[in-house]
This record gives sequence, structure tokens and C-alpha cells, in this order.
Amino acid sequence: MLEIKGITVKFGGLTAVNKFNMIIEKGKIHSLIGPNGAGKTTLFNVITGVVKPVEGVVKFKDANLLNLKTEEIIYYGISRTFQNLQLFNFLNVYENIYSGIVHNFKGIYRKY
Ligand SMILES: Nc1ncnc2c1ncn2[C@@H]1O[C@H](COP(=O)(O)OP(=O)(O)O)[C@@H](O)[C@H]1O
Ligand SMILES: [Mg+2]
Repeated sequence: MLEIKGITVKFGGLTAVNKFNMIIEKGKIHSLIGPNGAGKTTLFNVITGVVKPVEGVVKFKDANLLNLKTEEIIYYGISRTFQNLQLFNFLNVYENIYSGIVHNFKGIYRKY
């Protein structure tokens, strides 16, 4: 469903992600783990169009995500939240997580 092939990202002389491959299958939950600096966040930045790789392919269904902008990729149902400890304190846990797909919300009903 989501196919990541041969992704390499360089920041100047530093190779942050080196020929990374992963296939995300429909209906399954996948995790990406690794030590600090392994390149996890950079990979999420590639999938969501925030960082462009020097090589590789990111395909979702038939779309080549590398040709799309973040604000287009979100309409494929692909979004992320940033690694930021600051939460919206007026939202509950569920709502904080779902802030990443806020473009889908027609409105939020909530009693404050
Ligand atoms: N915007 C950037 N500019 C330069 N180097 C970066 C940038 N983002 C990440 N890096 C470097 O790329 C490597 C991978 O970082 P990152 O993807 O944040 O790792 P992780 O999320 O697995 O901890 C690290 O060496 C980090 O310092
Ligand atoms: Mg990270």
C-alpha cells in the first residue's frame, strides 16, 4: 500500500537515511524503531513531503508521493504530528493525536 524504496537523504556531507526500504501493508500497524539520530524523523519528513530525498521512491497506491507537496499528500490520508512535547491543553489525548488530520474535520463539537 505504502512502498518506500531505496530512500537516501543527505544533509550536506551527512547521510541521514541510507537506501531505506519498507512496505506498509493495508490493515496492519507498523513501527519504526531505532536509536537517536538513526533517521526516523527524517524518513517521516520524506513520506510527508517535508524533506526531499536524493534518491528513492515513495509510492502510495499508484501515486508517487515525492512529486506531491505536503498539503497534497494529506488528502491521501497521510499525515503526521511533529515531535513536540507541547500539547493543546484544551484538547484530550485523542483530540491531540487527531490534530494531524484536522483538515478532515467539518467542525468540532465540544463543551468547554
Ligand atoms: N534538517 C537537518 N539538517 C541537518 N542534519 C539533520 C537535519 N535533520 C536531521 N539531521 C541529522 O540527520 C540524522 C538523523 O536525524 P533524525 O532523522 O532526526 O533521527 P531520529 O529521528 O531517528 O532520532 C542525525 O544525524 C541528525 O542530526
Ligand atoms: Mg526523531
